[in-house]
Amino acid sequence: MILGLAKSVVKLNSSKGVRGVNYSGRRKGRAKAARGEFSRAGGRIPLLKPWLVKPEALVGDLRKVWASGRLSLGEYTGKLEDRARELFGVKEVVAIQSCTSGLILTMKALGIGKKVVVPDYTFPATSHAAIWLGAEVVFCDVDLSDYTISPEALAGINDPEVEAVLAVNIFGLPPKVDEIAGICAEKGWKLIFDSAQGIGGEYRGRSIGGNGAAEVFSMSPSKLVTSAEGGMVTTNDTALASELRELRNYGKGRGEAMEGVGLSARLSELCAVLAWRNLGHLKELLAKRERLEKKYRKALAGIKGVAFQEWGPERKSGRNYFVVRITEEAGKSRDQAVSELWEQGIECRRYFYPAVHEIPAYRGKYAADCPNAVVLSSQAMALPFYSTMTAKEQDLVIERFEGVMTGR
Ligand SMILES: Cc1ncc(COP(=O)(O)O)c(C=O)c1O
Repeated sequence: MILGLAKSVVKLNSSKGVRGVNYSGRRKGRAKAARGEFSRAGGRIPLLKPWLVKPEALVGDLRKVWASGRLSLGEYTGKLEDRARELFGVKEVVAIQSCTSGLILTMKALGIGKKVVVPDYTFPATSHAAIWLGAEVVFCDVDLSDYTISPEALAGINDPEVEAVLAVNIFGLPPKVDEIAGICAEKGWKLIFDSAQGIGGEYRGRSIGGNGAAEVFSMSPSKLVTSAEGGMVTTNDTALASELRELRNYGKGRGEAMEGVGLSARLSELCAVLAWRNLGHLKELLAKRERLEKKYRKALAGIKGVAFQEWGPERKSGRNYFVVRITEEAGKSRDQAVSELWEQGIECRRYFYPAVHEIPAYRGKYAADCPNAVVLSSQAMALPFYSTMTAKEQDLVIERFEGVMTGR
């Protein structure tokens, strides 16, 4: 059921497995014993769990959908878009079937198709979207402290064919919006934010959603707010939003005429019901994640070779994931730590792994000079982090993580 990240995990592990560890990350042969041992301690701790309103809360809405006979582009798509508009403080929200399709359609609507800059440390859907449009991808390095796209590296890209930058929210943290926007303005590049992981993030005291030409969010199962599968494009550009409304519906204009070449990328009304209800709980979900993260940081801060994603007061993270780095100072590698934690019933992941230019689909096709992305992809790991996580579960993760890292 941990579909969003699980999707990526299969890809991650299928590219180059941790030695002796199968797709699920468990050490072969010993997994059964480890499961048995752990079940005595109360079951495995999952990496993620989707947060969902109680099914009873949906019944009345679903009855309305049934009665209306409209299963897409109906009342609940509208309600979701209205609620998100208010939360993000933006003029336009276009619900969409996924963040990936939203990125593809946004770039298509903006006439982008030649060359796009993407960070080398992200989930590969970012660059896949550009490639689907037939564009070439230029990989840009990231900062080691906050893991987001590096303004210095971006400013150093001098390529007359580049048309746009996809700046990515990493684990919920917005990139350095103003610095990146300044560079893009100077170079004449369009700026789009892949905010798949970013719901709830803030920049300089304002919710993200209104930055760049558009921001594109995911509501897949691994996200803070989920619609089962789905996404949203947010923008202050009304003309762009109208075009996106056509493009998500094959390219159909107001009548039946096919004004554009779009995708079939509408959000179903069933998903819209779930997203609308879940989004109503954003504040409490953010507060819970903040508490969980504070506790992790406090507990793990003293462990040698463990480093955190760091950012200043001008940004707030939506805290979609909790990711630590296992640096050279640690007594063991990140991959070793991941294997040992799995053996002890704690689900964790190398994340993101590998650097995007090294995924099997791209290997050998793209040159990239992104040393920080390579370091991060060899050191970063996601620990269990979900909105329903109990104190007991988190204590167990902390205890086992400490044990693995300190050899106790
Ligand atoms: C950074 C990033 N971009 C894009 C995506 C793709 O989102 P979706 O599954 O909604 O297409 C993800 C999914 O996890 C992501 O993490």
